[in-house]
Amino acid sequence: MKTHTTLRIFWILLSIVLGFAATTTASSADNKIQDPLTEDRTSNILNTESPRERVPGDNEAVYGPIPKAEQIFHIEFLEIAPSPIEVDKYFFILLRGSIPPPTRRELHLGPAHLASATLSITISAILENGDKLEPRTYYRIPLRTAEHAEGAHLAIRNATGAYVDHMALEGRNDVLVDAWIPAIFVTTGMWTFEVVASLGCNWGEERRYLFALTLTQWLESNDRW
Ligand SMILES: *[C@@H]1O[C@H](CO)[C@@H](O)[C@H](O)[C@H]1NC(C)=O
Repeated sequence: MKTHTTLRIFWILLSIVLGFAATTTASSADNKIQDPLTEDRTSNILNTESPRERVPGDNEAVYGPIPKAEQIFHIEFLEIAPSPIEVDKYFFILLRGSIPPPTRRELHLGPAHLASATLSITISAILENGDKLEPRTYYRIPLRTAEHAEGAHLAIRNATGAYVDHMALEGRNDVLVDAWIPAIFVTTGMWTFEVVASLGCNWGEERRYLFALTLTQWLESNDRW
């Protein structure tokens, strides 16, 4: 239970930060609730036309904020269980896909690009009371098999079923996640999670993206405190 205690403390700290964000942005005149997917959002790298394309599989995610055409990793399916995610319960993710060989050749991709890939998670919300939490990037973690954020696990499996340190250049890759969102972190509302996986090495100033997905869903806090 020690891990849970540590995790809880971590989330308390995070919710304090988020709470601060809520009070500083709530004063803005425009507090009406809008669908975050259709709303004009300055955080978006490009304004994609809405509604955005859904990601195949049992999930509520769409492609973006990076346009699907710029995403190197071709997603076969994304499974998120349960869907929608519930607070204080483990959720599981299976993302399956591969990098198409023409893309591999065109970009001269090598294993080093994948070994240094990162995953960034940007969180925003429109709370039940109308407050807005502006998008902020809370995590930037290596896209590698490891425990992250104390208790959340990410694992990568290759086409022959072996658990590997990072994505393989060739063949199918499975990205597996088990994690949970403690209720104490959540104020009831519509939450948006933007998950962007970037290749580690830059091409000059340009960044290359493996995948970029946005999940918007209602999260219900059951922790009244
Ligand atoms: C998967 O990883 C294992 C262990 O590193 C390796 O032996 C196997 O060849 C890999 N399979 C593919 C398809 O890359």
